[in-house]
Amino acid sequence: MSEKKIALITGANRGIGFETARQLGQQGIKVLLGARSAEKGKEAAETLKNEGLDAEFIHLDVDDPATHESAARSIEEKFGRLDILVNNAGIYLDEAENGGFVPASKTSLEIFRKTFDTNFFNTIAVTQQFIPLIKKSDAGRIVFLSSGLGSLNLHSDPNSAIYNYKVPAYDISKTALNGYAVHLAYELKDTPIKVNAAHPGSVVTDMNANGEIPVEEGAKTSVSLATLPADGYTGKFIYLGNELPW
Ligand SMILES: NC(=O)c1ccc[n+]([C@@H]2O[C@H](COP(=O)([O-])OP(=O)(O)OC[C@H]3O[C@@H](n4cnc5c(N)ncnc54)[C@H](OP(=O)(O)O)[C@@H]3O)[C@@H](O)[C@H]2O)c1
Repeated sequence: MSEKKIALITGANRGIGFETARQLGQQGIKVLLGARSAEKGKEAAETLKNEGLDAEFIHLDVDDPATHESAARSIEEKFGRLDILVNNAGIYLDEAENGGFVPASKTSLEIFRKTFDTNFFNTIAVTQQFIPLIKKSDAGRIVFLSSGLGSLNLHSDPNSAIYNYKVPAYDISKTALNGYAVHLAYELKDTPIKVNAAHPGSVVTDMNANGEIPVEEGAKTSVSLATLPADGYTGKFIYLGNELPW
C-alpha cells in the first residue's frame, strides 16, 4: 500500500479542480486528476508532472456511471484505498442556455434536470461508488464543491450580497448538495471520515468570468477541507476556514 495520501479530484482538467490538484500535489499527496476528456485530463496531469508533482489522469465522467466503476476498480487495484475525494466537477447552465438570467417561475425543467443530474444526482453516484474505498483509509476526507449561492439563509436575507443574484437551477442544485453533505456527514460521524461542503469564493474561471479572486485563492478551501486533521470538523459549510449558513 502506498505511504502517500491518494486524492481524487473530479473535473480536475481546468479551473478550481486543476488548481486544487496542484496544491494537494504540492503537499506531497498523489493526485488523480479526474476528467471526462482523456485528452484534456492527460494534458493537465502532464503539466503537473512537469512541475515535479505526483499526478495521474483518471477517466471519470460524472455523468457516466461506467467510468465511476472503472476508476474505482483501477484505484482499488493500484492503491487499495482512497484518502481524499474532492467532488469538484460542476456545471452552470442557467445563463448560457437561457441567454441571460431567468427567474424561478420561468426556468425550464430541462435546465433544472440537467443541472441537478451533474451537480447533485451524479455527484452522489460518484461519492457512493468511492465510499467503500474511502472507508479503507485511516483518514478519509470528502469535499463537496458547493457555492455560497446554495445558501438558503443568504438568499432569503435582503441584506446579503447574493440576495439579488439568483440563478435558480444552479443555486438550488448546490442547496441540495449541501443537504446531502449534512446527511452523509451524519452517517459517517463515528468513523474517521470527514465530510464537508466548500464555497470556493467568487473565482475567475471559465464558469465565472466576473469572478473576484484567482484560482490560487479559490482552491484553498477545498485543499484545507481535504487535509483536515483528525480532530477537524465534519458536516460544515466552509469558506476559507469560516463557517457559512446553510
Ligand atoms: N468559479 C466560481 O466562482 C465558483 C463559485 C462557487 C462554486 N464553484 C464550484 O466550483 C466547482 C469548479 O468550478 P470552476 O469555476 O472551476 O468551473 P469550470 O472552470 O467551468 O470547470 C468545471 C470543471 O468541471 C468539469 N466537468 C463538468 N461536467 C463534468 C462531468 N460530467 N464529468 C467530469 N467533469 C465535468 C469540467 O470538465 P470539461 O473541461 O470537460 O468541461 C471542468 O474540468 C464547480 O462545482 C462550481 O460549481 C465555482
